[in-house]
Amino acid sequence: MIVDDKLRTPGAVRDAERWTAHNYHPLPVVISSAEGAWLTDVDGKRYLDCLAGYSALNFGHRHPQLIAAAHAQLDRLTLTSRAFIHDQFADFCRELAELCGKDLVLPMNTGAEAVETGIKVARKWGYQVKGVTPGQANIVVAEGNFHGRTTTIVSFSTDEDARANFGPYTPGFTVVPYGDLDALTAAIDENTVAVLLEPIQGEQGVVVPPEGYLPGVRRVCTERDVLFIADEIQSGLGRTGRTFACDHEDVVPDMYLLGKALGGGIVPVSAVAANADVLGVLKPGQHGSTFGGNPLACAVAIEVVRLLATGEFQRRSAELGERLRAGLEGLVGKGLVGVRVRGLWAGLDIDPALMSGREACERLAERGVLAKDTHGSTIRLAPPLVITEEEIDLAVAQLAAVLAG
Ligand SMILES: Cc1ncc(COP(=O)(O)O)c(C=O)c1O
Repeated sequence: MIVDDKLRTPGAVRDAERWTAHNYHPLPVVISSAEGAWLTDVDGKRYLDCLAGYSALNFGHRHPQLIAAAHAQLDRLTLTSRAFIHDQFADFCRELAELCGKDLVLPMNTGAEAVETGIKVARKWGYQVKGVTPGQANIVVAEGNFHGRTTTIVSFSTDEDARANFGPYTPGFTVVPYGDLDALTAAIDENTVAVLLEPIQGEQGVVVPPEGYLPGVRRVCTERDVLFIADEIQSGLGRTGRTFACDHEDVVPDMYLLGKALGGGIVPVSAVAANADVLGVLKPGQHGSTFGGNPLACAVAIEVVRLLATGEFQRRSAELGERLRAGLEGLVGKGLVGVRVRGLWAGLDIDPALMSGREACERLAERGVLAKDTHGSTIRLAPPLVITEEEIDLAVAQLAAVLAG
């Protein structure tokens, strides 16, 4: 291997490894700037971003409208805490509630916090509204789920890497196979307060449930007086070609959990959206966050909601997603053994005899395309929704070259 000692990347990778806990295994690229769908590293090499911060960058890097909102807000007011109300708060909550078709919004910061919020609200709703036996509330979740990394959330993870050695675990969750409506129905009892699902399992490899599953879950939840909580933190806000992944089957959950793209790739913003009969169970002092719904977050997120309200990004994702699908399906039998695509979101299963997902991502990076492996031989593609047709073709061509060896 030729080592160019003028390159800054190797030293920067070494330093990062030296000074941080190793809770991630990043690709050895060190990014210093970005615009739209493109990243530039410390050595000036350019990469097409096909991960988009796990959907946090749906609008691309440094979208001008979002950056302008952030700059303007930085010059006026950045933080109040929720002890006071600020002038961006109501607009954010109203516009997001309208986008979701819900009465109320509760802003938080990270996705995991939105999930924790949803769990707390569902339990309280269960005790106070449904009349569940005190201390007995349970929530039905799916195998292969990914909802975040807190101690409660990893308690019901079925990924041993995420769960092992972090006990004692939080009780109150029943795990059923994803996509199996009969199993889900059988798991519901009189103390079930919610079903918590990703409408498409992102971290699991963009796993789309069988058609009819989500409407079935909706029906059963209504019949059994159980809240349907849709974790749209990664699948929502345009990623799949619709505002929400649930929209593909006209399903309206009782609660949306949102995050990632809501912060425009600038600040962490998450939220729970639900009707007043659900979110209304929370009273002062029962839940909160110092930074949740801060002025900077709200100013950026208002513009995110306005971008989504135009429908342009959902359209782009749907149309360009078909091009991505066509390109990727052409590689099945040529190094890929499976492909799942919804909008600009794809899970690709690489023939494990050929190489691991990690190896494929490393080779893609050498060719100037950044993507992320998950679960052995699967790669996930989630480019920013501002990606062009030519850039999609470029990503597919580079993948084809990697698979051809
Ligand atoms: C579906 C889903 N829920 C929750 C989370 C957790 O979000 P965060 O990393 O912001 O806590 C993620 C993150 O990947 C996710 O994909």
